[in-house]
Parts: sequence; C-alpha cells; structure tokens
Amino acid sequence: MPDQKINILAIESSCDDTAAAVLCNGKILSNIVATQEVHKQYGGVVPELASRAHQQNIVPVIHQALAKANIDKKDVSAIAFTRGPGLMGSLLVGTSFAKSLSMGLNIPLIEVNHMQAHILAHFIEEDGYDKPQFPFLAMTISGGHTQIVKVTDYFEMEVIGETTDDAVGEAFDKSAKILGLPYPGGPLIDKYAREGNPKAFKFPKPKVDGLNFSFSGFKTAVLYFVQKETKNDPEFIEKNLKDICSSIQYTIIGILMDKIKKAVKETGINQVAIGGGVSANSGIRQALQEAQKKWGWKCYIPKFEYTTDNAAMIGIAGYHKYQEQDFADYSITAQSRYKF
Ligand code: KG4
Ligand code: ZN
Repeated sequence: MPDQKINILAIESSCDDTAAAVLCNGKILSNIVATQEVHKQYGGVVPELASRAHQQNIVPVIHQALAKANIDKKDVSAIAFTRGPGLMGSLLVGTSFAKSLSMGLNIPLIEVNHMQAHILAHFIEEDGYDKPQFPFLAMTISGGHTQIVKVTDYFEMEVIGETTDDAVGEAFDKSAKILGLPYPGGPLIDKYAREGNPKAFKFPKPKVDGLNFSFSGFKTAVLYFVQKETKNDPEFIEKNLKDICSSIQYTIIGILMDKIKKAVKETGINQVAIGGGVSANSGIRQALQEAQKKWGWKCYIPKFEYTTDNAAMIGIAGYHKYQEQDFADYSITAQSRYKF
C-alpha cells in the first residue's frame, strides 16, 4: 500500500488509564493518556470507579487525540481497541465505544490483545529506533502480568514462562504499600532505590521451576521483615527507606534476570525486548544494558511513554492487523482473561 494513508484511531481502557491515539502508517500523530487519580486514596485500582472514570474520560480523550493529530473523523481508516485482558468494567467502556464508533463511521473494527500490544509497541515507527527482528524474546512486566514470550511474527507469539501468582508490578506496589508509600508504588521504589544500597538487606528469591515466576512469597517476606524491624525500632522505615527500596528492587530485578537468562539459554535467542509498566524501571533497564555488553545480547528498551498503558501500542497492533485485513465483527465481546 505505497501511497495510501492508513489512519488508525486506537482506544485503550483495560485498567485505570483512559487512552486514545492516532497513527498514520504506523507513525504516531497523537498519544493521549488520562490517568485516573481517584484510585490513589484507596491504595490500588477500584474496578467500579475505574469503569466510571473511563465513561467520563473517553469522549474528551478521543476528541483530544483527533484534534492533536489534526485528523477529521471521516479520515480515520479503522478503529482499534483493547479487547482484553483487563478489568471487565473498564474493558466494556472501550469495547462498546469502539464498536459504536466503527458502526457510526462505517469503518472496520480491529480487536487487540493488550499483552501483544505491549510487545508490538517496539514496532512503532520512530526515527533512530531499531526494531527487533523475528524471532525475539519479549518479557512483558506490568501490574497485571509477568510473561516471557517467544515472538516469531507480529501475531505469532508463544508464552514460554509466566507468573504463577502475583505479577511483578504487584510485587513492587504491594512492597511499597507495606512501606507506607502511595499507589502505584513501583515508580517510588525505583526513585528511592537509586539512592540506596542494594545489598543492605537480603530478601529470598523464590524457587520456581522452568521459566515461570512467583512473587507472592516475596511480598510476604517483605511484610515479615518490616514487621520485625519496626517492632525493634518504630522509625526503621524512615531511617532506612532508600536502602530497603534498593534491596527490594535489586532482588526483584535479580529474579527477572535469572529467568530471562535461562530463556535465552534454552531458546538460543539472544534478542530481548521488554514491555509493560515495569519496563520503565531503571534497574531492569540497566541490567539489560549490562547484558548487551557482557553477553552480546541485543536488547530493546521502550521509550518511557510506551512502557505504561497507552493507546499508541494498541494502534500499532491495529495497523499490522489492518494490513492483514484482520477485522472484527460486531458480535465481539470484551474478555477479561484473554490468552493468545
Ligand atoms: O503496564 P501498566 O501501566 O499497567 C498494567 O497493565 O498493569 O503497569 C503498571 C505497573 C504498576 O505496577 C507500576 O507500579 C509499575 O507498572 N511501574 C513500575 C515503574 N513504573 C511503573 N515499577 C517499577 N519501577 C518503575 N519505574
Ligand atoms: Zn499494560
């Protein structure tokens, strides 16, 4: 399709970010995210409130995305939306809106798997950014998921390892909550970790077979550690916050790196891409940069705006489906557990 302009309007509403983006031939024209602040006071996402906030945000966010892209509704080629996985009440807002808009504008509807989109974010057209070559390994690390995926083509992906309980983002957020930090705690742990000593305290690493992960025991270990230390000294957290955060982050990144190293060894694929909210973490970014130097891996680290939930990644997945004319019909429903 040489001279044809494919404009994709993408909608993401799987959790607590209402997002819309417009892409022209895989290049971003606009990428708008309305992060819901309402959850902060509850220390985690409240599904019912998330759904309501999506209903309030979705129209202005889409308007803003179209205006910023300077694209009129009639010039949109297709609507891409997140079908799942995610919170049902949240997904329903984006799914219903996308269906109605596609019907109203009489243009194709494209369903996108949120986890595949986190991986495909690496294919957004950006000047000076190398795209991964197939096959490569992707580690999707977020508040809802932790997976190692073997990617052989845009939509040929095999999950070869995943968490058996909590996601890695939850390990960050729950540890932060134990330390009295607000939600989401991951970025705060990262911030304090940079100024602390990663070896000040030692936390156990779980023993899990194969390429799978487990983080629920880690969170309990942090809880018991903090309870024990604050019993001896009520100001323990205040006095040691940076060192505690640094030690937590060091252990979590160690757990991730052990498994991805194992995956590289087992598959013989040494191209590694990361995606999802936790890929914003400075510790994992640094560990992968070191892996490139030490072991000759080729690592792909997304720009910050494509790490946490956004609609640009839904748009790039939609663009590739558009090229394959892989469209959805209106009987499609949201899926909170959507495997690929
Ligand atoms: O991908 P995402 O925006 O939403 C889900 O699909 O879950 O990921 C959100 C998660 C949260 O758990 C948040 O604490 C974590 O990503 N996160 C981080 C950092 N930035 C976001 N965790 C550690 N370090 C960071 N810098
Ligand atoms: Zn996500």
